[in-house]
Amino acid sequence: MDVITSINDMREFSENARAKGKTIGFVPTMGFLHEGHLSLVRTAVKENDITVASIFINPVQFGPCEDLSTYPRDFASDRYLLEKEKTDVLFYPSVQEMYPEPSLTHLFINRLTDGLCGAQRKGHFEGVALVVAKLFNITKPNRAYFGAKDWQQQAVIRRMVKDLNFDIHIEVCPIVREEDGLAMSSRNIYLSQDERTRALVLNRSLDEAERMVKQGQRDCEVILKKISELIASSKPDRIDYVSAVDPESLQNVKKIDGPVLFALAVKFGKARLIDNRLCSIA
Ligand code: PAJ
Repeated sequence: MDVITSINDMREFSENARAKGKTIGFVPTMGFLHEGHLSLVRTAVKENDITVASIFINPVQFGPCEDLSTYPRDFASDRYLLEKEKTDVLFYPSVQEMYPEPSLTHLFINRLTDGLCGAQRKGHFEGVALVVAKLFNITKPNRAYFGAKDWQQQAVIRRMVKDLNFDIHIEVCPIVREEDGLAMSSRNIYLSQDERTRALVLNRSLDEAERMVKQGQRDCEVILKKISELIASSKPDRIDYVSAVDPESLQNVKKIDGPVLFALAVKFGKARLIDNRLCSIA
């Protein structure tokens, strides 16, 4: 696996590969890789001639009170894991390389960023959209892979790609969980043993929401009340949201008459965890 740190070298690599008719699959990450990230890499390797992964902790998507300085890193392990999965190139630029000066160009994806994490993490999705647009222009992929775990993020990226006519196919891969149901996340490392045990309530409450939908409950208020109580009983440090939204528009749903996404953001200790479940009727 090649490790490329310069934008010019990365561009040149991709241009050469595409000139030879090869397809490029791209997996953007912030590193500290786990099975969730690796599932995206495996899909990219299966579906493309060449797989490019990136590791870049993007400062502009972190709020002033967020965990930019403590975000977990382990380059040696990441490199080993990507190599093992037969990644062809790891793009690993510095902050100076990506942002030699502050970007004066900003991307606002309206409406989709009003609720859920967008409401609490002001500027977060603008930062994500900016870096992903830059990474797309640098790595020039045919396909790019995102996880359903960050549902709002994939919705924002899909809309950006559509609105700006990026010639890139966005693929969304399922949430990978630990055996006990906790959705994998680089931030799980922040959890103490006790917090981790209590955090299992997230998956359990999504199971409960799914069960209620399957049994015919169509009133979201009833479901949200039930699962909010369940979550509160595990004494989280903060509940940011417990929501039922349309999976495409991300607008709140009251009565279920089609697919509905239950989405949660809950803080246990220092870790703000998100999780979601797409439920359909019939
Ligand atoms: P990061 O949190 O490192 O996640 C990289 C990709 O892995 C995202 O598409 C995310 O949805 C996916 N992912 C994380 N946990 C997953 C899980 N348990 N199952 C399936 N997929 C999972 O998301 C980012 O980085 C950044 O915002 C980024 C897109 C790289 C832009 O900076």
